[in-house]
Formats: sequence, structure tokens, C-alpha cells
Amino acid sequence: MGRLVICDHPLIQHKVTFIRDKMTNTKQFRELVDEVSMLMAYEITRDVPLSTVQVETPIQTAEGKVIAGRMMGLIPILRAGLGMVDGVLKIIPSAKVGHIGLYRDHETLQPVEYYCSLPSDVAERELIVIDPMLATGGSANAALDMLKNKGCRPTKLMCLIAAPEGVRAVQERHPDIDIYLAALDEKLNDNGYIVPGLGDAGDRLYGTK
Ligand code: PRP
Ligand code: URA
Repeated sequence: MGRLVICDHPLIQHKVTFIRDKMTNTKQFRELVDEVSMLMAYEITRDVPLSTVQVETPIQTAEGKVIAGRMMGLIPILRAGLGMVDGVLKIIPSAKVGHIGLYRDHETLQPVEYYCSLPSDVAERELIVIDPMLATGGSANAALDMLKNKGCRPTKLMCLIAAPEGVRAVQERHPDIDIYLAALDEKLNDNGYIVPGLGDAGDRLYGTK
């Protein structure tokens, strides 16, 4: 079973509180999502492989470590996943970015695919699927299905807030995927929203609705 990692650094907990607050405006919301994503990227990259190199200091040769092999690929799920990309890129600037367009049908809660564009060398990269909300898990599972069907190698799912229902759904369908969250909430409500959650992430990021 993949790991479930709650990134509960005090700075992340502090910022998530303000992300949840309905009084937080669009500008502040976007900035906070960016900051939390950057902080989460530190935890997500904890296990990247390193190789040993020699470096000349002004004094003598030293042995050092550098990140080995190809960097990662980030796959935000449109729209709301876009709000997390720049924060992660601040920590992993060489990552390439692909996009998967999915939206939840408001009646059925089923994900509807409308876009997929992936970097040319995507099959050689370790992929991180990014979406602020993991509610029923339908969107994340559909994105992971799409990537695996195309021969890609997603290894991690990064979300801000999840419901236990969504975590279970991804763990059942994609037991190989590590899930990283800033917070694990209580439940879903009858409309498929996370409780207490933060409301509609896409609307709060982009000021829609
Ligand atoms: C939200 C969110 C996830 C999805 C989560 O997107 O960003 O993609 O819902 O719900 P699920 O786990 O039940 O699938 P939404 O469909 O509202 O689209 P948007 O990003 O375009 O606002
Ligand atoms: N999508 C959101 O944006 N928020 C939720 O709570 C659930 C799905």
C-alpha cells in the first residue's frame, strides 16, 4: 500500500487555517495555496535519489550529493490543480508540467475528461498528480488511470485537503500511489463537498461562481 503522508508542519497548519477561512479573499487564497504547495514540495521530494559528485571548494576537493537522473513531472488536474504548480516549481524548478482537464459533473459527481497534454519525455519521469481537493476520489482516480493507460509512471498524489472517502477510493484503485496531504478532514457532505474543507477550490482560486 502506498504511503499516506499528512504534511503537518506548523507553518502548513497555520496557512491551511487561513485557506479554509471564508473571509480570505481571492488574492490571499491564491498566495496561501502557493505557499503551502511550496512547503509540501519539501516533504514530497524527501525520497528523491541522490548521486555522489566531486566539487572543488576554494580549499580542496569535496564529495557532494546531487539529485540523480531525470527530474519529476507535475500533472495538475485543471482547473484548481493549476493553483499549486508554481509553488511546487519553486522547489523543483526543472520539473516539466503536463495538464489533465477534468471536472466533476455536479449531478453525478463523476469526473468528465476534457483535456490532456503531457511533456514529450513523460514516460521517463516520476509523475506527481496535483489537485487541491480529494473528495470522492473520482477525479484523482481518473487522472491516475489516464496516465497509467498512456504508459506513464505516476507515483504520488499531492492534495491540500482530503476526505477519508477519497483517500480510501485512491488507495483501493491505485495502491501503488503515495498520497500527500496538508489536512485529512472529517467527511463528505451530501453534495460531495469536503467537511469542513474550504468550499470550491477552483471558484476560490479564480473568483468564479
Ligand atoms: C474539484 C477539485 C478536484 C475535484 C475533487 O474540481 O479540484 O478536481 O473537484 O472531487 P472528487 O474527488 O470528488 O473528484 P472541479 O470538478 O470542481 O473542477 P475545477 O477544478 O474546474 O473547479
Ligand atoms: N471540490 C472542491 O473544490 N471542494 C470540495 O469540497 C469537493 C470537491
